[in-house]
Amino acid sequence: TQTPLIDPFARRITYLRVSVTDRCDFRCVYCMSEHMTFLPKRELLTLEELDRLCSAFVGLGVKKLRLTGGEPLVRRNLMSLIRSLGRHLESGALEELTLTTNGSQLAAHAADLYAAGVRRINVSLDTLDPQKFKAVTRWGDLDQVLRGVDAAQAAGLKIKINTVALKDVNEGEIPAIAEWAHGRGMDLSLIETMPLGDIEGDRTDQYLPLSLVRARLASRWTLNDIPYRTGGPARYVSVAETGGRIGFITPLTHNFCESCNRVRVTCTGTLYMCLGQEDAADLRKPLRASEGDEALVGAIREAITRKPKGHDFVIDRRAAKPALARHMSTTGG
Ligand code: GTP
Ligand code: 5AD
Ligand code: SF4
Repeated sequence: TQTPLIDPFARRITYLRVSVTDRCDFRCVYCMSEHMTFLPKRELLTLEELDRLCSAFVGLGVKKLRLTGGEPLVRRNLMSLIRSLGRHLESGALEELTLTTNGSQLAAHAADLYAAGVRRINVSLDTLDPQKFKAVTRWGDLDQVLRGVDAAQAAGLKIKINTVALKDVNEGEIPAIAEWAHGRGMDLSLIETMPLGDIEGDRTDQYLPLSLVRARLASRWTLNDIPYRTGGPARYVSVAETGGRIGFITPLTHNFCESCNRVRVTCTGTLYMCLGQEDAADLRKPLRASEGDEALVGAIREAITRKPKGHDFVIDRRAAKPALARHMSTTGG
């Protein structure tokens, strides 16, 4: 076995997020503009290349692999990649193979995901109101997503619901979303909107600090900090009244970078060492340069020596441009 990936701040890189496509069948208002332009498909890594790339990281000690997008399930034949990656679960090299999905295609894939070794998925859902859902996603059908959630639970998948806290849009609904999720045995993670990529609206109008949301929840329910961890950035509380957990992902109000264990790769093979920084490494070139993984592994190791200490997101009305031009759908969060 090879020496593991450790960055200059002594953080071990054990979590790889891979955006398998920048495309999505929704256009969430905080994520993309309505007329988002996507990459030409010929730019994308093939599924075989994605497999090699992921497998190289597993060889370097990555224990948790999350496929994201865009919407991962809109990538044609994605299930063949997932089935193939499942071999690393069987060998014990990988502890978790999972994905973050908007749920729109989940009903068709839930059973296959479970069969491939996936046990837990994250489903993005910002509101349980069909009209609001349509407004946030620009045309999404809430029922279709809820059918996906049903199918996933029926297939035996554990689900965490991801909800981006949006001022005015869903802030009043957060307790109801928590009750719904907890009632079905699902965790809920709340997320602060991050300034990535151009959108039509103004992020300062959408931004809702989770410190405020937490204070409101605490006046309604008994929240207890718990040490529960998934390897992701959320910090969790348990809710005495519902018996469920709520995670808080707070890049703006409470930076969690000191315990960062992750890097991400785009669908074109660009490795970003931090979601909130531009520095990147091209892995497509070494991937295509030879059949062996030596150059690829070398490029990964070199990149990890440049992993920055953290992001410096701020949401600032005076800044006309987003902090980063790159959209969340490029790196998958
Ligand atoms: P779990 O395995 O369930 O903990 O999932 P996760 O939170 O790691 O992944 P998910 O794809 O559900 O991401 C939830 C939110 O966390 C998304 O908005 C991501 O953009 C955000 N997120 C994940 N990693 C990072 C990170 O390193 N930095 C920042 N700022 N946000 C992150
Ligand atoms: N800020 C915060 N979260 C975002 N997501 C997409 N764009 C943003 C943003 N700008 C969320 C999605 C999904 C997760 C992967 O990231 O809702 O749950
Ligand atoms: Fe698609 Fe997710 Fe972005 Fe919404 S947040 S447009 S579902 S990638």
